[in-house]
Amino acid sequence: MDINELIKISESAQKFSYSPYSHITVGAALLTKSGKVYTGANIENASYGATICAERTAFVKALSEGEHDFEAIAITSNLGHETAPCGICRQFMDEFVKDDFKIILVNKEGEPSVRPFSYFMPDSFRIEN
Ligand code: THU
Repeated sequence: MDINELIKISESAQKFSYSPYSHITVGAALLTKSGKVYTGANIENASYGATICAERTAFVKALSEGEHDFEAIAITSNLGHETAPCGICRQFMDEFVKDDFKIILVNKEGEPSVRPFSYFMPDSFRIEN
């Protein structure tokens, strides 16, 4: 799939964001190796710590339907600048992605970047199984 197409899907996933507290809408589009796309949006909670980010929403949707081979994720928001994944999402993704997994972001000029997951999560904690 084309990068720009994945970004568009991520942007449209923002419409399902539930963010009455931060008013930040985040969208994610997770592409599997088989070419399927799972979308996600951030879902907030009055108990702020219970909030679920867009990335984890997309991953949990995919994982709970049996998907385990991931190619890339496009992350977008209404912030007007690159929206890099938070630390919890980096750790969460680390459990399920391989070295070739890519993170696609969009900068304030609207230009996409494609970076390996290892750029965001070097030297991660891992237990071999
Ligand atoms: N958020 C995400 O959805 N993904 C991230 O990686 C960073 C933060 C959401 C959570 C919360 O709803 C809002 O952005 C502000 O933190």
